[in-house]
Amino acid sequence: MKITLIAGSNREGATSTSLLRSIERLLKDQHLSVTFVDLRELPLPLYSPDAEALHPNVQRMVEAVADAEGLILATPEYHGSISGVLKNALDYMHAGLVAGKPVLSVSSAGGPMGVSSLLHLQGIVRNLHGVNCPEWISIGASYHSFDSDGHPSDEGMRGRVDSAVGKFVDLTRKLAAGVEAAI
Ligand SMILES: Cc1cc2nc3c(=O)[nH]c(=O)nc-3n(C[C@H](O)[C@H](O)[C@H](O)COP(=O)(O)O)c2cc1C
Repeated sequence: MKITLIAGSNREGATSTSLLRSIERLLKDQHLSVTFVDLRELPLPLYSPDAEALHPNVQRMVEAVADAEGLILATPEYHGSISGVLKNALDYMHAGLVAGKPVLSVSSAGGPMGVSSLLHLQGIVRNLHGVNCPEWISIGASYHSFDSDGHPSDEGMRGRVDSAVGKFVDLTRKLAAGVEAAI
């Protein structure tokens, strides 16, 4: 099963990206095939409907999304919403890439948690006809530290991430099996 992760920050040392790297490790431990798209390392030009050809970086992201059976999107909480960097990436997408695929949304906030960005992200996923995972994850400022293995230092948060990722993987398996059975 293939999962694509998109890190929606272009800040060096972004905690939303660290959280996504921790999730990547959990998925790899389950021998899942993971593609990590880090929008800091793979900057995308500003989306324009007038552009005639896709920039190679956009092409790479689009292929990674098309190839995946499930997606995990990470964003910093910016002014009660998602980052412009992630919104720009999502503007390149269309229902043909996302429809019917489970999507887990995760955020990092400066406050206690970043629910607004998660709600906005789930709204965008819904408009792309993706299947919002019933779980989501937000790490507020008091959960921004990671241990030497790259997992959240707080035991409770580690458990929460584990559980949310487990439920996302289950949902992705079920939906992928349903698609295969229907073919
Ligand atoms: C432009 C901007 C807007 C922000 N707005 C919010 C906000 O509305 N709520 C909040 O809790 N934190 C806000 N923050 C703080 C970030 O959410 C916080 O620093 C978070 O850890 C950023 O994620 P990152 O570590 O992945 O960059 C904002 C930060 C920036 C730079």
